[in-house]
Amino acid sequence: MEIGFCGPGLMGAPMIRHLLGAGHAVQVWNRTRAKAEALVPDGATVASTPAGLVGRAEAIFLCVLDAAAVEEVVFGANGIVAGVLGANGNSPVRWIVDHGSIPPSATRAFAARAAEANIGWIDAPVSGGVAGAIAGTLAVMAGGDAADVAAVTPVIGAYAARVTHMGAAGAGQTTKLCNQAIVTSTVAAIAEAVSLAQRSGIDAARLTQALAGGWADSVLLQTFVPRMTQSGQPPIGALSTFQKDVDTIAAAAYETGTPMPVSGTVQQLLRLGAAMGLADADLSGFIDVLHTPRKKG
Ligand SMILES: NC(=O)c1ccc[n+]([C@@H]2O[C@H](COP(=O)([O-])OP(=O)(O)OC[C@H]3O[C@@H](n4cnc5c(N)ncnc54)[C@H](OP(=O)(O)O)[C@@H]3O)[C@@H](O)[C@H]2O)c1
Repeated sequence: MEIGFCGPGLMGAPMIRHLLGAGHAVQVWNRTRAKAEALVPDGATVASTPAGLVGRAEAIFLCVLDAAAVEEVVFGANGIVAGVLGANGNSPVRWIVDHGSIPPSATRAFAARAAEANIGWIDAPVSGGVAGAIAGTLAVMAGGDAADVAAVTPVIGAYAARVTHMGAAGAGQTTKLCNQAIVTSTVAAIAEAVSLAQRSGIDAARLTQALAGGWADSVLLQTFVPRMTQSGQPPIGALSTFQKDVDTIAAAAYETGTPMPVSGTVQQLLRLGAAMGLADADLSGFIDVLHTPRKKG
């Protein structure tokens, strides 16, 4: 399939490499052009604007930061919809697939606006982190029309182990909020455990070995204990991204009357981290909010 892709960031770049590896033609746009150019040796071509993607692509994939970025890329002056409308019926674009994590309410509004331009919207947020994107084993939770989700599922299969259709537009994003409630709370709890181990005088780095196979073991434990006990690890995401997600969880909890006291505590922990200047720190920066030192990696 001919594909357009906006947002070759930490997550998007490995997804694009998998699409190219699976034989798809991929044209890439990014706000910072150099990140799109970096994929040319892998076989990608580069567009100057999101609107520039609409000439060849049947599906346009997004992996940009937040709802404001999605709105700009899709509905802005040089956005995808402007490009499609400007093509006067000659654009092959049929679907927008949004892999970013944005609020379900924003997704429903975007899907309705895209439908006016005859574009199907699939919200398809992902879990599995940068490691999952590189390995091609992401879990994708999808919302949208069933036929639209079915049409793009084989393409997403280039970098996902599973695609689960959860319901109409926004259902994928709601599922991702459930995922993030578990992930952010767990990473915060791992930071507390590492901090307790260090302050008690035991080797926190050996928690991975000691807890392996027990109830506290998880991909998150095995990923974050090494990152929290040693400095100098390559970044896999920013705490501000977690902040965005727990803020969205808090809004959804308010809208639905759901008691979520643990997520509320994590939200305030992240707010404290931001006030300490840690918004751009790696996801393992939870440990720095607790003032627990790391060894040089
Ligand atoms: N990292 C993870 O572990 C992870 C896991 C699952 C889901 N996600 C989600 O995936 C999405 C991308 O995350 P990431 O970690 O790949 O982030 P990232 O590396 O910071 O990439 C963000 C991308 O969004 C673009 N962008 C940001 N603001 C923009 C704007 N106003 N207009 C246009 N483009 C804009 C960036 O362009 P520039 O290069 O110009 O800055 C970049 O291409 C987020 O929604 C995140 O929540 C991340």
